[in-house]
This record gives sequence, C-alpha cells and structure tokens, in this order.
Amino acid sequence: MAVSAGDVVALTGDLGSGKSVLARGVLEALGVEGDMPSPSFVIVASYEARVPVNHIDLYRLDNAGEALDIGLEDLLYSDCISIVEWADRLGGFLPLASIKVELQAVGERDHRLISIKAVVPEVRTRLANLAGSLVRFGGQ
Ligand SMILES: Nc1ncnc2c1ncn2[C@@H]1O[C@H](COP(=O)(O)OP(=O)(O)OP(=O)(O)O)[C@@H](O)[C@H]1O
Ligand SMILES: [Mg+2]
Repeated sequence: MAVSAGDVVALTGDLGSGKSVLARGVLEALGVEGDMPSPSFVIVASYEARVPVNHIDLYRLDNAGEALDIGLEDLLYSDCISIVEWADRLGGFLPLASIKVELQAVGERDHRLISIKAVVPEVRTRLANLAGSLVRFGGQ
C-alpha cells in the first residue's frame, strides 16, 4: 500500500478529470465499504477504515482561509489519511509532505494521464518503490 497513516493525497485536475473515482478507489483499498457519497457539500467525509481516513472536497471553497476557518489544518496534520479533491484550493497551506496526484483527460477516448509527485524524500522513496514494483508487475 502506497499510502499510510498521516499521508495527504492531494488530487488536482479539471472538472470531471476523475478525482472522485480515484478517491473512492483509495478509500476502498483502505477497507472502506458501502456508500461513499460526494463530500462536496459537507467538505469532509470521515471513515474508520484500517486507519481513519478523510475524503475532502474543496470545490466549494473560495480560498484557503476558509479551509483554515473550518479546521482543516488539524485533519491535514494528523494521523489520519486525507484524500483531498481540488487540493490546489489550499494554496500554500497544502502540507509539504503531500502526495500530489494530477489527473488529466487525454484524447477522445476515456483515457486519463495521471502524474504522481512528492517533494519530501521519505515520501519520494515510497513512491519510487511503488513505481519499481509496478514495473516489475508489468514485466511479468
Ligand atoms: N480513470 C478513468 N478512466 C476513464 N473514465 C474515468 C476515469 N476516472 C473517472 N472517469 C469518468 O469521468 C467522469 C468524472 O469522474 P469524477 O466524478 O471522478 O471526476 P471529478 O474530477 O471528481 O469531477 P469533479 O471535478 O466534478 O469533482 C465519470 O463519468 C467517471 O466515470
Ligand atoms: Mg469530484
């Protein structure tokens, strides 16, 4: 599993690029079962999976200050995993240790280009290991 307690997965990409589908995939992989309604109105949906996990959608936020007003900082710097749609709304408040995932619809078919980046060395190492195992898996 590429994400672990305390991680923030920062999803960005245009409307309809696939952020929610990816977020639900991560929730399922973490053991969340049943309905996972969109948190765009409530902003945060919290689940007790193998670790506590938050699905956050910042689409309705006008600026990063509003995110702080509703106490998001406490969630983003906690032992929970947080998966954040429209993470760019956080601007400079996005935690440095985030795993940044950018989605882009490409071509006329239902294809998506997904880029995954991190700047903190420990997170980069985990992503590199994941990439390595995917390459090995693909080669089998
Ligand atoms: N990886 C994918 N490949 C093909 N289609 C996808 C993929 N991910 C999502 N889709 C399709 O794209 C549409 C939009 O997906 P989704 O709701 O996840 O986007 P979103 O980025 O969360 O949108 P919004 O910006 O409105 O929140 C859905 O019809 C979904 O089935
Ligand atoms: Mg969405």
